[in-house]
Amino acid sequence: MKRLAILSPIIFLLILGLLLWHPWRTDDESPAAGPGPVEAGATAIVEADPFVPKIPEYEFAEPTRGGIGKIYLGREISQVMGHRGIKWLERDNREEEESPSSAIDALQLPPETVIADIGAGSGYYSFRIAKLIPEGEVIAVDIQPEMISHLEMTAAEKDITNVRPHLGTIEDVALEPASIDAAIMVDAYHEFSHPAEMMLSIREALRPGGQVFLLEFRAEDESVPISRLHKMSEEQVRKEMEAVGLEFVVNHDFLPWQHFLVFRKPGR
Ligand SMILES: C[S@@+](CC[C@H](N)C(=O)[O-])C[C@H]1O[C@@H](n2cnc3c(N)ncnc32)[C@H](O)[C@@H]1O
Repeated sequence: MKRLAILSPIIFLLILGLLLWHPWRTDDESPAAGPGPVEAGATAIVEADPFVPKIPEYEFAEPTRGGIGKIYLGREISQVMGHRGIKWLERDNREEEESPSSAIDALQLPPETVIADIGAGSGYYSFRIAKLIPEGEVIAVDIQPEMISHLEMTAAEKDITNVRPHLGTIEDVALEPASIDAAIMVDAYHEFSHPAEMMLSIREALRPGGQVFLLEFRAEDESVPISRLHKMSEEQVRKEMEAVGLEFVVNHDFLPWQHFLVFRKPGR
């Protein structure tokens, strides 16, 4: 009896210790604790992009004036503006007619942005955007070697080091996956002979959440003095961007002649 009296506080303390020490319920395993950092050598789980493209087939017809006779979602694709159009792209009254400076302001790019200017032409937009992103880069993409030479010459003349001329193909922007924060296309997309393939390659080059800025002359407005196939309606652009898995964000309507449509790649 005396021995039990001596042992009972010890037994009590042992039981209490066991109850407080739950090796199977550590704080790390509580639902609020989260998975914790991934150890070196462990495999991180990367969210897969669930988008599966279902691109409609192109149709073909007799080319109309300025067109190539290839139809995408009801729109005839326009011929490409040759490099002799550089003079027109760089015309003195472009600011007055198209207000590109207000379009560039509205991009609101952080200084370290990497943006591809696709169908850059002479680089009218590329060189102006480059000034706003001193820690970033403009990848000026075109399919015409003459445009690339012109871009290289201008970059050297102006001593601008954050514009990188880049030769793409008619089907592929030829950039690394998830390597750009944004893409801009000014009066260029309607000329892409393989719009679906081009946009899918651009989508892949964008990081998740990356933005697409698409400027096109307004087809809805007959007073815009540009030929038919060089214009696009908002409805048509949205149809074509949604076909390649880009989400519509907004259409700014402050430009005198153009739509300024913003899309984004899902994810972040
Ligand atoms: C009308 S110019 C516009 C140039 C420039 N964005 C501007 O507004 O000053 C269109 C440009 O798109 C280019 N282009 C056409 N198809 C292309 C493609 N698949 N990939 C890249 N550039 C393309 C043409 O070579 C041409 O230089």
